[in-house]
Amino acid sequence: MDGLMQDKAVVVTGAGRGLGEAFAVHVARAGGAVVCNDVDADLAEQTAATIRRHGGRAVASGDSVADPAQAQAIVDRCVREFGRIDGLVNNAGLNYEALPWEDDAEQARQLIEVNVLGVLYTGLAAIRAMVGAGTGGSIVNISSGASLGQRKLGAYSASKGAVASLTYSWALDLEESGVRVNAVCPLAHTRMVWKSERALRACPPDRTPARIAPVVLFLLGAGSHGITGQLIRCNGPQLHVMGQPYLKQPILERPTWDTETVQKAFDEVFSAHLENYGLEKRVPPRLRKLTDTSSRIA
Ligand SMILES: NC(=O)c1ccc[n+]([C@@H]2O[C@H](COP(=O)([O-])OP(=O)(O)OC[C@H]3O[C@@H](n4cnc5c(N)ncnc54)[C@H](O)[C@@H]3O)[C@@H](O)[C@H]2O)c1
Repeated sequence: MDGLMQDKAVVVTGAGRGLGEAFAVHVARAGGAVVCNDVDADLAEQTAATIRRHGGRAVASGDSVADPAQAQAIVDRCVREFGRIDGLVNNAGLNYEALPWEDDAEQARQLIEVNVLGVLYTGLAAIRAMVGAGTGGSIVNISSGASLGQRKLGAYSASKGAVASLTYSWALDLEESGVRVNAVCPLAHTRMVWKSERALRACPPDRTPARIAPVVLFLLGAGSHGITGQLIRCNGPQLHVMGQPYLKQPILERPTWDTETVQKAFDEVFSAHLENYGLEKRVPPRLRKLTDTSSRIA
């Protein structure tokens, strides 16, 4: 796919290591000019220098996506250096594991500031530039399978669910302006995975960030025209579209609902329609009692 990003300029946040570094290198290899952003400015510069050493076009930005003025500066840098912005990979992110009763409010706030507000601030700056220029563009947000719910990942899952919702909403708002917005749910052996025994078990070392980069590159490039509002998951050998949340039938209607009629609705109708929940697809206790006689019912 050499030349896929020829004459295009792309911002990749969190490009100092891990997935972001791979995305930046692959964009440059496909002919694109890249702003390699990372709050770890030395690492951002290393990625940009590597790209330049191989004949690509790249500049580094050490701004934090979690600050609206700095997020704007990342996008401005792209327009100033390369005369345009065609793509944004909203990749910078934080992660930690905690049981809900041991979670720390300050750590949760920091995570939300980067994973949600960082995506929002950088996205809004890019959207303003893209819509203003009238030349369209492609935004690829990095979400996660964890957005479906995972144990010990409450704050992280919520942040990635927010990224999914932003993706759907922005895709609706921007379709007419020719800016496409999609998200990728990756799994790759990075620092984020090294920190978690469970993630390490799910993600062997051969799941390198370079295996996710082609999916991001495809969504940035013209070959994905007509594709917007989608969450795409790439997990080792698997590539698939994530299902969208939807309003599930049956939808019962009556003028008002009191506790008694809600109870009746659940006892007589919805019990059969409860959904398995979380990424692990856990059967709700009320259904489990029909299938599993050994476990205690909550
Ligand atoms: N690795 C996986 O399996 C996996 C799975 C699902 C989703 N993700 C997502 O992929 C993205 C990249 O993760 P990774 O695994 O490469 O992690 P990583 O920790 O290796 O890299 C994340 C990078 O983001 C940078 N960053 C953090 N805060 C920033 C800020 N405020 N401004 C700019 N840069 C900042 C960090 O310095 C770091 O270099 C994240 O959004 C993560 O949630 C990763």
